Amino acid sequence: MISAVSGQETKLLLSSDEISKRVSQLGREITQDYKDKDLVIVGVLKGGFIFLADLIRHIKLKAEIDFIRVSSYKEGMEARDIELITDTIISLKDRHVLLVEDLIDTCGTLNFIKKTIMSKNPASFRICALIKKKKSRETKIAVNYIGFEIDDKFIIGYGTDLAEKGRNLPDIYVIE
Ligand code: IMP
Ligand code: MG
Repeated sequence: MISAVSGQETKLLLSSDEISKRVSQLGREITQDYKDKDLVIVGVLKGGFIFLADLIRHIKLKAEIDFIRVSSYKEGMEARDIELITDTIISLKDRHVLLVEDLIDTCGTLNFIKKTIMSKNPASFRICALIKKKKSRETKIAVNYIGFEIDDKFIIGYGTDLAEKGRNLPDIYVIE
């Protein structure tokens, strides 16, 4: 199919149904693991905003929500240096922090965010990613909750973009 948003050939990878089933499972798991804990969920903007919004409604705890914004992809599929655009506002010191990220490719972004958050001395730090690409090429970081592991292809939809387009697609597509 030729995608209206990217003008490129796309193929359905994960339907909104599959995504929502997996997201609710992750929410239940996180609820179980963090019961009795003082949880702060930190979403990574912009890509993680839809996943975060769906996930937190399956986390049945009194969690606080904050955001961190970084940019790692300039335009299209070319990587560049990572920049911190907006830091978290809630104090993370001695808090149990769960980072919610849309997808992990090389781990470069995650490395950068992890360092930023660890410098605030949280009580604990865990990562939840909707998607992890199989060949995460750079430094390996333990990802505690993973929605789906996929091949090393470029995807759009459900928050992820190609040059800022495609975030609003309910399903996830591979760009061929
Ligand atoms: P990493 O630093 O290589 O792990 O890349 C992480 C970030 O790059 C993700 O949070 C996305 O914003 C972006 N990214 C990596 N791969 C893709 C992709 O296939 N589609 C859209 N964005 C991607
Ligand atoms: Mg992102």
